[in-house]
Amino acid sequence: MNLKGFLVLKSCCIELYVKRERMKEIVILNPNRVVFGEGSMQRFVGDFVEKGFKRLFLLSITELSHALVPFLNTLTSQGVEIVIDESIVGEPTFDDFNKTLEKAIAFNADSVVGIGGGSVLDVAKLVAAQLKNTQTLDEIKGIGNLKERQIYVACIPTTSGTGSEVSPNAIFVNELGEKVGIISPFLVPDAAYIDPVLTVSLPKSITAATGIDALTHCLEAYTNKFAHPFVDLYALEGVRLIAKYLKRACDNGSDLEARAQVALGSMYGGMCLGPVNTAAVHALSYPLGVEYHIPHGLSNALLLPYVMEYNIETDASKYERIAEVLGAEKKATSKETALEGVKIMKQLIADCGLPLTLSEAGVKEESIPQLAEGAIKVQRLLKNNIREIAVEDAVAIYQSAF
Ligand SMILES: [Fe+2]
Repeated sequence: MNLKGFLVLKSCCIELYVKRERMKEIVILNPNRVVFGEGSMQRFVGDFVEKGFKRLFLLSITELSHALVPFLNTLTSQGVEIVIDESIVGEPTFDDFNKTLEKAIAFNADSVVGIGGGSVLDVAKLVAAQLKNTQTLDEIKGIGNLKERQIYVACIPTTSGTGSEVSPNAIFVNELGEKVGIISPFLVPDAAYIDPVLTVSLPKSITAATGIDALTHCLEAYTNKFAHPFVDLYALEGVRLIAKYLKRACDNGSDLEARAQVALGSMYGGMCLGPVNTAAVHALSYPLGVEYHIPHGLSNALLLPYVMEYNIETDASKYERIAEVLGAEKKATSKETALEGVKIMKQLIADCGLPLTLSEAGVKEESIPQLAEGAIKVQRLLKNNIREIAVEDAVAIYQSAF
């Protein structure tokens, strides 16, 4: 090759190098052991005994008191002492957490297990972390501030929603009624046991709301400003599974096939939370919890279609893919297909028996400016949204959802 040819080749290579999109780095932190499937509870008991722990602090829910007896009997017959705490019933405050931690310290627990919804699991994870940690709650709030966890923690979800059993997140309500996240690799549990059988007795309204929450985790990861091909796999499959099976799980709580598929989608959603996380739906839903005590999953359901409509203006192709996964027919343009996806989402929410507007959920129109002020403070999630949201945009979204 002569010099001229070499220079042409070199400039092509440089151009290729400059034009290609750089693959972003991603860090995936999942529990060391994830056990999924019917009968996972049994596996948990065997694994726990093998670990050799003797003082188990178990956070659970009263609804499971009877169902857990045989499992707990097996543990006690193996010499495990157990203290059961069923005090976490709603979204936990830091005060709830402190009281629970005191009980775990008094018991001198050598291990912590959470069996319940996201609130119970979040508390279990943080109790395990704070049993031996000298940092105060103020020091560990936010992202990456918690520096250690010495105590083993396993999580066993009884809802298909938060994905807390595989995520590094724990969400609490502070003294002002605001939701505060503690996010740390040390909050990824050591083990997660996802047994769809445990979700069978969930009432329809909770199945619906938690299921839409899980679907939102997946959707907001795929459409996220920080989306990554690694996570897209889980995100799109999670959207597909939940959209396909949630209505069946709502209509017949004993439909174990539907329960298992929704639980799988929910776990995928949890796996999206650590590396990518959520965006505007979650940011705008938090003030509904604060001002109106609307449960987290329902708050998301009330806003999801309207945030989708808002975001489609910035990246219709992302939402076109979501629409395809939801089963929409291809239309003439990406935007038209994407909007079909919104229609399907609204139908799914209605089919699951959830309200579709803020007014139906009891929100007053005059509180919208205050809700928007609250949402705009949740920058840790709004920064992930593909379209910028200023306070007036938040007002417009709440208004379209009203
Ligand atoms: Fe959520």
